[in-house]
Amino acid sequence: MVTDVDLSVRIGSLELAYPTLMGSGCYGSGEEFAPFIDLSKIGGVVLKSVTRAPRLGNPTPRLVQTPAGMLNAIGLQNPGIDWYLEHDVAKFASRPCAVIGSVAGFSVDDYAYVAERLAARDEIHALELNISCPNVAAEGETFACDPRLTARVVKTVRATTDKTLIVKLSPNVTDIAGIAREAESAGADALAVINTVRGMAIDVNAWKPRLGNVTGGLSGPAIRPVAVLAVYEVARAVRIPIVGQGGIETASDALEFLLAGASAISIGTGNFTDPRIPVRIVEELHAYLAARGVRSLREIVGKANVGFANPYQYEGDEG
Ligand SMILES: Cc1cc2nc3c(=O)[nH]c(=O)nc-3n(C[C@H](O)[C@H](O)[C@H](O)COP(=O)(O)O)c2cc1C
Repeated sequence: MVTDVDLSVRIGSLELAYPTLMGSGCYGSGEEFAPFIDLSKIGGVVLKSVTRAPRLGNPTPRLVQTPAGMLNAIGLQNPGIDWYLEHDVAKFASRPCAVIGSVAGFSVDDYAYVAERLAARDEIHALELNISCPNVAAEGETFACDPRLTARVVKTVRATTDKTLIVKLSPNVTDIAGIAREAESAGADALAVINTVRGMAIDVNAWKPRLGNVTGGLSGPAIRPVAVLAVYEVARAVRIPIVGQGGIETASDALEFLLAGASAISIGTGNFTDPRIPVRIVEELHAYLAARGVRSLREIVGKANVGFANPYQYEGDEG
């Protein structure tokens, strides 16, 4: 039994006090959750994805509850980068945790434009590149489903900023490890694995799809085994850190991702059911590691992954 367990992690040059990020689109900018939890007890917030032009999003209904999860088809509703920079970003300076901007787009140029402007702001500590949104016509996911496009967009955005660049991958591909390798070679500092899984639900009385957009992205515990496998496969293919996500609600869920090779985890849908989940996970991870005499979270990263290629690398660390 040890009492002092180090739960801090490093993602690129981003230092996180805790290994818990809040998933893009599920946490606002943190403000909405501040009445319920102490934001200094989470690692950071990934902001809702922002695009070059404002977007109204998809027709309603946009959310459907499903067994052990939910389908969403928000369609990247956001005010556009100009309004966002003018009215929103200054408020993020007061957050007691890391603030990660999320960039979405429809062309390589879009991504580079939004990323450069967002990264130029001190309130934004790192960027996540959402190249994997399944809810915007054909274009949204195209980048993450095509290795060459992934490489192009990551390389172009990489040239616009030195801030930590996390690239968010889609599970809706045959070879996620191949896409991960492209993102790494093109300059990604880390990978977010996974975005939502494509799905749909049908109203059997109305004989119609239940989402206004017809199809949506499945999230929550229903996708956890898909996400753990994706992390497992990606961790064997790259050496950069992975932020594992998909249905995490407990410390045990988080541990599956860490043992598969994720260096940090992200909680999205879980926050809708219980905003205390992220703080509880941190407390339980601490207790789990302390009980096993493990002094640092990074010691267990990838331990269930034979052939793991991604030892959590801090200067001076072995392996
Ligand atoms: C309502 C909703 C909105 C989302 N919006 C975004 C978004 O704007 N950008 C993004 O990269 N991911 C978005 N996501 C995906 C989540 O960040 C997360 O990667 C995914 O839901 C899997 O994790 P979870 O099961 O913990 O929610 C959204 C998810 C939900 C449920």
